[in-house]
Amino acid sequence: MSGFHLNEVWKVFEGDGIKTTAIKNVNLTLEPGDFVSIVGPSGSGKSTLLSLIGTLDTPTSGEILYGGKKVSEYSANKLADFRFEEIGFIFQQFHLIPTLTALENVMSPLLGRKVPYNKKERAIEMLEQVGLHNKLDALPSQLSGGQQQRVAIARALVHEPKWLLADEPTGNLDSETGESIFSLLTTLNKEKNCGVIFVTHDQKLADRARMQIKMKDGEMVSAHA
Ligand SMILES: Nc1ncnc2c1ncn2[C@@H]1O[C@H](COP(=O)(O)OP(=O)(O)OP(=O)(O)O)[C@@H](O)[C@H]1O
Ligand SMILES: [Mg+2]
Repeated sequence: MSGFHLNEVWKVFEGDGIKTTAIKNVNLTLEPGDFVSIVGPSGSGKSTLLSLIGTLDTPTSGEILYGGKKVSEYSANKLADFRFEEIGFIFQQFHLIPTLTALENVMSPLLGRKVPYNKKERAIEMLEQVGLHNKLDALPSQLSGGQQQRVAIARALVHEPKWLLADEPTGNLDSETGESIFSLLTTLNKEKNCGVIFVTHDQKLADRARMQIKMKDGEMVSAHA
């Protein structure tokens, strides 16, 4: 089990002569098994911060350490292994593969990987946990937004990551389904000590995390328990 350390991390996007500083000098330590929320206005850098922590993006400057090792220096292969072993990611826009069924989408991270369990059984189990046992063969286009979100959650958890990074995991769900997904995350955190970092616009949900990070204009304006 390892934690993250962000050291003077900046992210600047440049294109068409426009510079956007999405993340400004963020310093942050996350311990294994933390349960962390990220809040802040639209455009404040929440998704960017999550992508940097999840190594889906690289900082313009500064460094990100995982278990004391600089992940930015990993080779492409090592990075792919790192993500498979350590990270589950739920994207704000789901990113399901449109030509694959719900079951196939959930199984997709396991393709070509050696695992000590039956891949199909495990994927079905995950879909059951998010309440989609009756939609195994549905394509994303045949699912509602909230159902697609739940497939994305099952896919992020199927390989039993040490950290779950979730960009508005309950953003498209009604309050009852949202609550059941949130309690899935808390159970995962408590029983498997899976670290959870989630972005939310729902202050009440954010308050239920052990630590809360507030972003404003790319800066981390506070991080408190
Ligand atoms: N790939 C990119 N290229 C250029 N600018 C980007 C890119 N991704 C993000 N940005 C900019 O970085 C800033 C932070 O974006 P980010 O997506 O992190 O915000 P957010 O807090 O997640 O917002 P929301 O709540 O709307 O999802 C914004 O000004 C955005 O326009
Ligand atoms: Mg976002």
